[in-house]
Amino acid sequence: WSVVRGLWKGQVSSKMLSHRLQGALRDYVHSNKHNVLYKGQRKANKSREEMLCQMKQQAQLRTLDGSEQPFAHLGFKQLASSKLQKMYTTCAVVTSAGAILNSSLGREIDSHDAVVRFNAAPYKGYEKDVGSKTTIRIMNSQWYQQPDYDLFTPYINHRKNFPEQPFYILHPSFIWKLWDIVQSNTKENIQPNPPSSGFIGIVMMMNFCEEVHVYEYIPSMRQSNLCHYHEKYYDVACTFGAYHPLLYEKLLIKRMSTATEEDLKKKGKVTLPGFSKINC
Ligand code: C5P
Repeated sequence: WSVVRGLWKGQVSSKMLSHRLQGALRDYVHSNKHNVLYKGQRKANKSREEMLCQMKQQAQLRTLDGSEQPFAHLGFKQLASSKLQKMYTTCAVVTSAGAILNSSLGREIDSHDAVVRFNAAPYKGYEKDVGSKTTIRIMNSQWYQQPDYDLFTPYINHRKNFPEQPFYILHPSFIWKLWDIVQSNTKENIQPNPPSSGFIGIVMMMNFCEEVHVYEYIPSMRQSNLCHYHEKYYDVACTFGAYHPLLYEKLLIKRMSTATEEDLKKKGKVTLPGFSKINC
């Protein structure tokens, strides 16, 4: 709970994590399996406006387009479009955290113009707590026809079978830019692994929406070790991170938000302005 309270206050460090999670963090930093190196500045005390400006300037959404490999080579330029351009007024990002159970947030979530969900998170049977509207789904490549290898052939087959379905692959440069942004706002060395889908979804919607409402990313009073609302699996790493730099992503999101204490604690909700509403 000291981590949850720290997040509510906007002050956390890895020292607040359990020994197990601190150990996992250290191991990931040492193994550095993606071989990433951060050379930029680190400033952990930027103002909210400075952080939002940095986001707007550096986190422009980018998807793979057909002119790049492997698409250029496969000749699927027309299927791998890079245009995702619809704009929305208010958006909801619904994380899959167990703590959203018994929240009764479904109606509020569905009242937004667009709703983002993640991976295989279901809504059937959970409408009261998570709503049912689904505008965008963000999937990590493990969820798409099995693991990380050969993502592209099944992707192209899918585009051929469902050419009307807007279905894109995020550009690795976008994902790693987000990692840079988290590291640049953190004194400690963060896990050298991609940010979580939840963080990617939040920043993606800042590109498309005037206002982004995020549910159960910063944990509410309902926080427990239940990993996902839709399965009986318990691990606090789902909320505070082992592989993903979740603790640091969450701190950054909290520090950029205008959440009231009541929204944070009762709803697990933070609100962020979209890029179109950030002046810098
Ligand atoms: O587990 P999965 O990646 O499908 O969950 C979607 C996102 O929800 C995660 O990337 C993470 O940002 C967020 N999440 C969370 N706390 C949990 C479970 C998920 O913040 N307990």
